[in-house]
Amino acid sequence: MILIDGKATAATIKAEIAAQVDSIVSAGGRRPHLAAILVGHDGGSETYVAGKVKACGECGFQSTLIRFEDDVTEEALLSKVRELNDDPTVDGFIVQLPLPRHINEQRVIETIDYRKDVDGFHPINVGRMAIGLPCFISATPKGILELLRRYHVETSGKKCVILGRSNIVRKPMAQLMMQKQYGDATVTVCHSRSQNLKEECRQADILIAAIGQPGFVTADMVKPGSAVVDVGTTRVPDATRKSGFRLSGDVRFDEVSPLCSYITPVPGGVGPMTICMLMQNTLLAAQRTVYTGE
Ligand code: GUN
Repeated sequence: MILIDGKATAATIKAEIAAQVDSIVSAGGRRPHLAAILVGHDGGSETYVAGKVKACGECGFQSTLIRFEDDVTEEALLSKVRELNDDPTVDGFIVQLPLPRHINEQRVIETIDYRKDVDGFHPINVGRMAIGLPCFISATPKGILELLRRYHVETSGKKCVILGRSNIVRKPMAQLMMQKQYGDATVTVCHSRSQNLKEECRQADILIAAIGQPGFVTADMVKPGSAVVDVGTTRVPDATRKSGFRLSGDVRFDEVSPLCSYITPVPGGVGPMTICMLMQNTLLAAQRTVYTGE
């Protein structure tokens, strides 16, 4: 079994990005600039955004964190989004999700200029991705593809089963895995109500679990010799930790890992790659590589 080390891979990619930024700056160019909007004080979102700001520093990017309290009006948030759309010094920006219930998340996403949407959540990016056109690809699925590529896990013609329902992981992951230029795999998408779930999973050469239920994937669901990607990052209480919690994946690592050829751990697997792919998208935005001359 080979452990897919997302932390080490992310460190390598961030160093590659930092080297590119160095050459941009040496040639008289401006540092890529990522802005992040954070609403409220949700612990998970605070951690993610702090990680994104830190990664910007590691890559040599400029970063700006814009904070609002939970009771911000939708109009105030939309007006900040429009301001960032129009700010020529900002190459890309994200609005950390989830947002408070009184704010229409989809309206916020659709107000972001798709050319600065480095999360790849805008319907223009999602739609272009679905038909294989240049676009910003959302960070988690992009990070998973990059891990599989760097570890030489063959996907072409293989059977890939994806577990989960989300817009930011499951749907783009399925689209990318089925496209010839990315995964070129035979893709099955399952969720908790799928019939014959165990049998479907057992046929997977590549099993991607993004269900958000700790320990959902057990040994009897895994085909021996397969590659298993665990996207779960559920916080479970743990009194032995200073933070009071630990991150738990969707896969029972202890029983599944001896069976498979490759596996991503939690933490240290997909998570660090997600932030790193956001950095890559920001670099692409700064270089105007995706939307040239628009
Ligand atoms: N919330 C959880 N994951 C993400 C992400 O990748 N981007 C944003 N903006 N919010 C998130």
